[in-house]
Amino acid sequence: MNFKSIFKFTKTTEKLMKKVQEKPLPQHVAIIMDGNGRWAQKKGLPREIGHRYGSEALKEIVKMSVKLDLKYLTLFAFSTENWNRPQKEINALMDLLIEYLQEELEELDKNNIKINVLGDISKFPIHVQKEVNYAIEKTFDNDGLKLNIALNYGGRDDILRAVKNIVKDIELGVLSIGDINEKNFNKYLYTADMPDPDLLIRTSGEYRISNFLLYQMAYTELWFSRPNLLWPDFNQRDFLKAILDYQGRQRRFGGLK
Ligand code: IPE
Ligand code: IPE
Ligand code: MG
Repeated sequence: MNFKSIFKFTKTTEKLMKKVQEKPLPQHVAIIMDGNGRWAQKKGLPREIGHRYGSEALKEIVKMSVKLDLKYLTLFAFSTENWNRPQKEINALMDLLIEYLQEELEELDKNNIKINVLGDISKFPIHVQKEVNYAIEKTFDNDGLKLNIALNYGGRDDILRAVKNIVKDIELGVLSIGDINEKNFNKYLYTADMPDPDLLIRTSGEYRISNFLLYQMAYTELWFSRPNLLWPDFNQRDFLKAILDYQGRQRRFGGLK
């Protein structure tokens, strides 16, 4: 981009931002960052390079979330099914996660961001777990944007884990069957005490949920990008456009408006 187009880009981004800020913002945005592999393959590059550029896109979206003062941002980074990929790609994803945390943690912390993980990271290599846990500890007291990173996350796994913990609590006598309701079921999920996502964004033109927040998305507004918008190309303006689109929708939750 030359100077003139950078200037134009910034101007339109700011304009869009102002527009978005005129209406109520979603409290919780969840994103399926999809299309890294295809982005790279289109350019004749290895898939891993796509993931690297994908992590750059992610940084921009986190920045914009802070600017907008969003409360919750949940990013799908590694699913329970992503173990089915070649080991080489899995390793590259782990390395990128470590790199992201090492390079960004200070900045994230400065911006009052609280990092949280959804999913079971005990299956990850020890050094990755350490890095993730360090980031959680370091940002523990922050009360700005809650940045949920979904790692080895599956919606079905989330629900099954909740059920197991509920049964445990029943066995311990701290919960009885009659007491189970939607409110306290929520407390057993990885997203305990968080509002459900208001908006789900998925790039790359796949129209599916891929085992993301199944329970939590009962009434989430879904936004799917055009097919040729792959995650590494998703920018702040696209993000703002998705939010604007959300703001124009009428949510009824089964009632009447
Ligand atoms: C999303 O991009 C990132 C992860 C799943 C970790 P993909 O790797 O799924 O890219 P495509 O969908 O194959 O293009
Ligand atoms: C969903 O994308 C998981 C992440 C973005 C981490 P996938 O690329 O794994 O989903 P499918 O296989 O296309 O459904
Ligand atoms: Mg994919």
